[in-house]
Amino acid sequence: MALLTVANLQKRFGGLVVLDEISLEVESGQIQGIIGPNGAGKTTLFNVINGIYTATRGTITFKGKTITNRKLNDIASLGLGRTFQVARVFSEMTLLENMLVPAIPRRLSRVAAKAQAMELLDLAQLAELKDQPAIEISGGQRKLLEFMRTMMVDPELVLLDEPFNGISPALIDRLIEIVLKLNKEEGKTFLLISHEMPHVSHLCETVTVLAAGRNIAKGTPAEMRENPAVIEAYLGH
Ligand SMILES: Nc1ncnc2c1ncn2[C@@H]1O[C@H](COP(=O)(O)OP(=O)(O)OP(=O)(O)O)[C@@H](O)[C@H]1O
Ligand SMILES: [Mg+2]
Repeated sequence: MALLTVANLQKRFGGLVVLDEISLEVESGQIQGIIGPNGAGKTTLFNVINGIYTATRGTITFKGKTITNRKLNDIASLGLGRTFQVARVFSEMTLLENMLVPAIPRRLSRVAAKAQAMELLDLAQLAELKDQPAIEISGGQRKLLEFMRTMMVDPELVLLDEPFNGISPALIDRLIEIVLKLNKEEGKTFLLISHEMPHVSHLCETVTVLAAGRNIAKGTPAEMRENPAVIEAYLGH
């Protein structure tokens, strides 16, 4: 059974159908990519999966449980984490304080939470900046911080929304290393949205392509580059 299954999902905002008949399966241990032109509905799909938006129709199953239209916090506590296209961090708080926010409802001891936070900051090479307010670090570093904060609750599946967008080449390399390490050593599963085909090809064996709110293709990155419907969707855009 797949870790995440999205079946015949529809999302409408009033009369506007933004997602229509979307189906997707993510296997445990996979790093799967989602690509598609601007406005295809990629972020909306994440927002419906993680409970920010309710689905108009269709079902979402995670770890064998139906999570369609369940509350954001319930979905997160089942082990489904996500990052945002523009990182959402607490600007006035230090990096370490940001990391400790998800630990509060988990009632981890302060010592254990801090040790875990420092380990993750270290992985992202942000440990030395731990006492700086998040507003003082670069946009790319904020994306890494948000990603590492997501890992504080040890999610099984992480949805990454355009993690490479607006970050420096050096940080992209670090981010790729972290994703691969968490995947290989800890078995973490990733579903990642990106327009950066070279990085998608490097990380993902399977790519799902969305265009105008619909599934138009699925396959390896190489297959997708040659797929006429995919080429058409990008050129048409
Ligand atoms: N809350 C909302 N109300 C109305 N329309 C919305 C809402 N959220 C998204 N949309 C519309 O849904 C469509 C898909 O948007 P979405 O942000 O999911 O696209 P995307 O594939 O993530 O694009 P990008 O690559 O630019 O990030 C767009 O036409 C957008 O305007
Ligand atoms: Mg988006």
